[in-house]
Amino acid sequence: MSTSDEVGQFSETTERQSQRANLVIRPRRLRRTPGMRDLVREVSLTTDDLILPLFVSGTAEGDEPIGSMPGVFRRTVSGTAERAVAAAELGIRAVILFGIPARKDAVASGAYAEDGIVQEAARAIRVRCPDLVIFADTCLCEYTDHGHCGLLAPDMEVDNDGTLELLGRVAVSQAEAGVDFVAPSGMMDGMVGAIRGALDEHDLQHVGVLSYAVKYASAFYGPFREAAQGAPSFGDRRAHQMDPANAREALREAHLDLEQGADLIMVKPALAYQDVIHRIREAFPAAPLVAYNVSGEYAMVKAASAHGWISERAVVLEILTGLKRAGADLVITYHAEEVAKWLNDR
Ligand code: PBG
Repeated sequence: MSTSDEVGQFSETTERQSQRANLVIRPRRLRRTPGMRDLVREVSLTTDDLILPLFVSGTAEGDEPIGSMPGVFRRTVSGTAERAVAAAELGIRAVILFGIPARKDAVASGAYAEDGIVQEAARAIRVRCPDLVIFADTCLCEYTDHGHCGLLAPDMEVDNDGTLELLGRVAVSQAEAGVDFVAPSGMMDGMVGAIRGALDEHDLQHVGVLSYAVKYASAFYGPFREAAQGAPSFGDRRAHQMDPANAREALREAHLDLEQGADLIMVKPALAYQDVIHRIREAFPAAPLVAYNVSGEYAMVKAASAHGWISERAVVLEILTGLKRAGADLVITYHAEEVAKWLNDR
């Protein structure tokens, strides 16, 4: 149909409508009162949708503020457990742990030590909150002295296959410490299968895998790298994280991870990738989908709110509702505690 036909048809319709004005379709009728709006709302945000990230540090002496993430802290093991209790009391069902070890080395030994920082935090939380779902980030970048997500080969590239065995070891030690889900975030090919195999070999079949299946090489991770002190000391992560220009490739990544046994999959970051969230939701309707509302996204909202340029509560609720509408089942967000408070007193 040509454009002029479309215009012709459109004006014919509007003409007919204006002749019979009482039959005009009015979507606004459904928006007239708060009750109507509640009745026809397509998605709603609840505390069940939130996963709170917690940074536990082997060197923190108390709550250490993170400059670029106002309201977020690096905490001791006991401080982290206390925060988890507070989150659970607000109705939050899950936390994800990131560890900053006291010592880093070339082989990330702090990541799989029985008394590693995440392992200690998981045990401390489990004692105090038996029902809280505990995820642990399973990556090496916070534990290696070079800040890369895997072992380095002699050519100083990340050694994919050599790293897989180590990731299995990290996952097993996190699982033995009581985490419910390990969350590999290093974008190594085959990481989900290697971890699933290692967990099963150690009779840890009940422990699941949340795969950072679709993780882009993003500038939005800047504040996190300050928080976790895990920036690469040279180079970048573009040889393993995805190119922001690619969406079809995301389907391939998600497919591979589900085939290898991922229980949940993630898209990260969230805001610039809502089309990707939507595509994955459509392509894999059965897989629980997590969106990671990352540190840079949090920092932007905090900075603009601090200036009084936007209304923080309204903007955060709009962002998280938008992520659910795009197709996310769960959102990892640094706003989780504040959001839970807002939802509870609504
Ligand atoms: C890697 C990891 C990163 C984030 C979560 N896990 C950093 C990276 O890939 O460089 C970023 C999260 C955020 O920005 O909030 N362990």
